[in-house]
Amino acid sequence: MPANVRIGRGAFETIHDEIARLAPRTIILVSDKGLEKAGVVERVLGELARHSVPVKTYTEISGEPEFSTLRDTIRFVSEHKGDLVIGIGGGSALDVAKASAALADKDEATVSRILAGNEAPKSRSIRCILVPTTSGTGSEVTMNAIFGDPANNVKRGIVSPCYLPDVAIIDPVLTVSCPPLVSAASGVDAFTHAIESYVSTKATPLTRMYAEKAMRLFAKNIAKAVFNGSDLEGRENMSWVSFLAGVSLANAGVGAVHAMAYPLGGRYHVPHGIANALLLPYVFEVTGKTCVDEMVDIAGFLHLGDFRDKPLQAPDAVTAYLHSLLKHLNLPSTLKELQVREDDLDVMAEEASRIDRLLVNTPYRLDKDAILRIYRKAYEGQ
Ligand SMILES: NC(=O)c1ccc[n+]([C@@H]2O[C@H](COP(=O)([O-])OP(=O)(O)OC[C@H]3O[C@@H](n4cnc5c(N)ncnc54)[C@H](O)[C@@H]3O)[C@@H](O)[C@H]2O)c1
Ligand SMILES: [Fe+2]
Repeated sequence: MPANVRIGRGAFETIHDEIARLAPRTIILVSDKGLEKAGVVERVLGELARHSVPVKTYTEISGEPEFSTLRDTIRFVSEHKGDLVIGIGGGSALDVAKASAALADKDEATVSRILAGNEAPKSRSIRCILVPTTSGTGSEVTMNAIFGDPANNVKRGIVSPCYLPDVAIIDPVLTVSCPPLVSAASGVDAFTHAIESYVSTKATPLTRMYAEKAMRLFAKNIAKAVFNGSDLEGRENMSWVSFLAGVSLANAGVGAVHAMAYPLGGRYHVPHGIANALLLPYVFEVTGKTCVDEMVDIAGFLHLGDFRDKPLQAPDAVTAYLHSLLKHLNLPSTLKELQVREDDLDVMAEEASRIDRLLVNTPYRLDKDAILRIYRKAYEGQ
């Protein structure tokens, strides 16, 4: 994670110290239209006006951005000779901001090799500050940036320490305007980072400590953030969920839920959090039975009961909670509802089964047939 992380109500104020420290000549503000509409961009520009540094704003970013959006942003940063990129937004804006900061100082051929996944950047001369407005992807503390590749109907991550920002500023006040559906989807995305990294084959006592705290805080605060968005205590706790789960994910990885969500994003542009939330119970229905001890722990964190003397019942209790979460948060619970074509399930299973980078982290290695069975179940519903 970045060495410099500021979290809490009012943390955004510290951006002034960071700008003074980094002494940029030109700032590029990377955000999106939704945040412009919500008045967040205007507010940030007002704050940045305190410094006598030119600011160029780039907001041409769609939700779930594609590689072409990243290329356009790289061009913008380099044409304006930006030497500090400030990314403000959800995972979409932050992924574009951090990757453009790392790539705008490279030549065209190098950028092409990096975006094709054949090379990773080794250094970065442009500074970067990331400020999340959802809770969330944890993008501000991870080395990943994820983009759609429409020619191949897939979403793909690029990974390098150069995508970590110099500073992450996590201020819950900036999440207050986040709409209920985005709060629910991005909140369950953070929870998915916590639960998948907790059971990951790469989990360590340290990552489990972070993931446990994230799950405990999630259970108590997700409803407050979704149904009473101006509840600052709930928002602040969800900021912690996103950060803690992000650090756990960055070190222990996520697994099959994320691997199976990628084809939904790539083919159907289903928002990342919605895809994860929907697949979560169906995947854990299968994998939970192969990591019973962890399911007993998780049932405890979520206050579902004490299963230490009846551990085999814990996976069902956790799965039932995950199903109920979808209903409670008004999130879609079947692939049918998302207009996914039944005919596509096979090719989606083929694509997901090739994402070894994530599947190796799941305690039970799912092959293509197992993945297809899960998609089929998720298509029809419980
Ligand atoms: N890099 C990583 O480690 C990582 C991890 C998980 C997901 N992701 C990526 O993150 C993206 C999803 O990010 P997300 O779930 O944060 O959503 P998002 O960034 O796509 O935002 C969703 C919508 O909410 C709006 N919004 C965000 N914050 C708001 C606020 N405070 N007020 C008003 N509107 C607001 C945005 O304008 C946008 O329209 C996907 O592309 C996904 O692949 C990256
Ligand atoms: Fe995620």
